[in-house]
Amino acid sequence: MNNNFAPLEEVSNTTSPHISGNFGNIFHQDNYDHYRNAVNSTLDLVQQFLYRNDKPFSGIEAKEMKGMVQEIDLNQKLSTYKELLNEVDHIYVKHATAFHLPQYVAHLNCPVVIPALAGEILVSAINSSQDTYDQSAGGTFMERKLIDWTAEQLGYNTNESDGVFTAGGSQSNLMGLVMMRDCFSQKRYNHNIKLDGLPQEASRFRIFVSDKSHFSNLKNASIMGLGEKSIVKVPTDERFCMDISLLKKYIKREEQLGNIPIGIVATAGTTDFGNVDPLKDIANIAEQYNIWMHVDAAYGCALLLSEKYRHLLTGIERADSVTIDYHKSFFQPISSSAFIVKNKKELLILKHHADYLNPKEMDEEEIPAQINKSITQSTRRFDALKLWFTLRMMGKEQLAQYTDTVIDLTKDAASMITEDQDFELLSDSDLSVLVFRYVRPDITDLNALNQYIKMKLFYSGEVLVASTKVDGNFYLKFTFLNPITTTEDIHEILTKIKRHGEDFGTEN
Ligand SMILES: Cc1ncc(COP(=O)(O)O)c(C=O)c1O
Repeated sequence: MNNNFAPLEEVSNTTSPHISGNFGNIFHQDNYDHYRNAVNSTLDLVQQFLYRNDKPFSGIEAKEMKGMVQEIDLNQKLSTYKELLNEVDHIYVKHATAFHLPQYVAHLNCPVVIPALAGEILVSAINSSQDTYDQSAGGTFMERKLIDWTAEQLGYNTNESDGVFTAGGSQSNLMGLVMMRDCFSQKRYNHNIKLDGLPQEASRFRIFVSDKSHFSNLKNASIMGLGEKSIVKVPTDERFCMDISLLKKYIKREEQLGNIPIGIVATAGTTDFGNVDPLKDIANIAEQYNIWMHVDAAYGCALLLSEKYRHLLTGIERADSVTIDYHKSFFQPISSSAFIVKNKKELLILKHHADYLNPKEMDEEEIPAQINKSITQSTRRFDALKLWFTLRMMGKEQLAQYTDTVIDLTKDAASMITEDQDFELLSDSDLSVLVFRYVRPDITDLNALNQYIKMKLFYSGEVLVASTKVDGNFYLKFTFLNPITTTEDIHEILTKIKRHGEDFGTEN
């Protein structure tokens, strides 16, 4: 097999009868030079973004930023890429948050790996749409292979399992809840929600989540017509994981109230604490009640590849469905996420035939269509290609090594915070989040003190930390996702926090 590309001279500079007149902006072989120059100029701006940045944020205020964007007259076109890139640099790139810097320790935004960025070039240039084979060809099978690979990491039987790439964790969680609701209704009442809408009993459906689960569960329940009231928040233990004895109690309580438990969402890696709910115990309870178990592993999926920490996910193989966010934990550019289901037959609930895309008579074996599994997107990007590039160039071992490094670093950071009397750490983390606050014996309003620190850091742009509230109190939050961050970086960040903390109350 000849794996070489054809020499460029053979494929470039062809003259085509198709391109005449003012169509030089269309992506086409005749316009390749235009494409390459445009991309190269844009790459120069990427280079500037990287070389110029020594802090994660410029510190610009929203009001000023808004004014700069508003000034632009979109009806007045520009003449050159130079002008365009200057404009975009001015109103975007100069102020864009730099997730790749060790001083960015705020939200769940990972630095991205270079193979994925190379893949992104093909994703957007070729622009396959993953809904049907005739719009993606190899893309359909590559996506399917990555879904199977992910299912294998979960411990599923890949002959039985299936799934689809989605836009993000919230959408994958929506799929989990829809499957939970519809399968329950079908099995318990022989009622098909897709065709007939919600059954009468639906107003009494209840889904159990921990009080530290992601808010998308509430939003999803509300758009599914179950209302936020259907989500029962089970309190968490001292590590902020779902309390199993309370889960049992809450299920019983709901039953006594005449409500109907339909499933449990376990969180593998909570947004605020990075801890994993007790998956085995939750699986036992779901089995006992014969209800759906969905695992939101949007963040915790990182552990799947780690030999050292994989054991924390034991029990995930018993879940009916799982959310995976490669754009949080596999160093992928946004968007890259998946919904995986243990029993592919259950996915059929989502299938819809459109005469123009996947008509009923189309043989699925011969002409496959990923659209059959997608809940809200028809036209869908080939995001899977980025993960393909990543896995093939880095291998799962290197991804695992990045994850292990980040988790080990978090343990070191936790020790640094605990050993320093100026700080109070709320919990350790299975993954890489630490919630803590700065304390000063002479200050009683610790909320104001820590809000001040966060605000000062943000507008200086030197360090970006997140924050959250626990029991009404304001805390600072580190989310570590960058394997190049060192303990020295963390030491410097803590020193800066202290410096602002010491200044609190001295300004007029
Ligand atoms: C545990 C968890 N689940 C789901 C989500 C939502 O994911 P996305 O932002 O990709 O929609 C998040 C986002 O932070 C999360 O932390």
